[in-house]
Amino acid sequence: MVLNACDKANVKAVWNKVSGHVEDYGAEALERMFTVYPQTKTYFPHFDLHHGSAQVRTHGKKVLSALGEAVNHIDDLDSALSKLSDMHAQTLRVDPVNFKFLNHCFLVVVAIHHPGVLTPEVHVSLDKFLSAVATVLTSKYR
Ligand code: HEM
Repeated sequence: MVLNACDKANVKAVWNKVSGHVEDYGAEALERMFTVYPQTKTYFPHFDLHHGSAQVRTHGKKVLSALGEAVNHIDDLDSALSKLSDMHAQTLRVDPVNFKFLNHCFLVVVAIHHPGVLTPEVHVSLDKFLSAVATVLTSKYR
């Protein structure tokens, strides 16, 4: 998934809106994922997954902060996400299909909170970026 200069600028513009809300938006994206795609809950048997759960909020913040780091290193996602890639592929063994679910839920969260930002062009760029992140995070299965 090759991001051109325009895509990178679009993703950074989205992140300017998102970066002040990583805990709220991260928790909202996770909560949507667990509700819409309940099979994703199997990876979190040790979590309280009820609405407003402190664990989900903390985890949502971690996930979106990692995405923010990826935005900051958008030209070198492989290195920026290397440790997380090891973890998801080798330790957590999350089936790659689940990344599409989380990406979709995050896009919905952005659309709800910043409808004016998510023009069709920006939507494409954000989708490409999230797919690129997912590709790196699922690249080390063996
Ligand atoms: C842990 C990021 C997708 C399941 C983590 C952590 C981060 C993270 C930052 C914490 C790492 C640490 O504690 O050192 C991401 C990003 C994703 C993504 C950026 C995609 C954009 C997924 C998906 C699933 C998943 C799709 C499964 C549906 C998990 C689990 C943990 C974890 C089970 C461990 C939670 C715990 O026990 O604390 N992820 N993740 N992740 N992730 Fe992901």
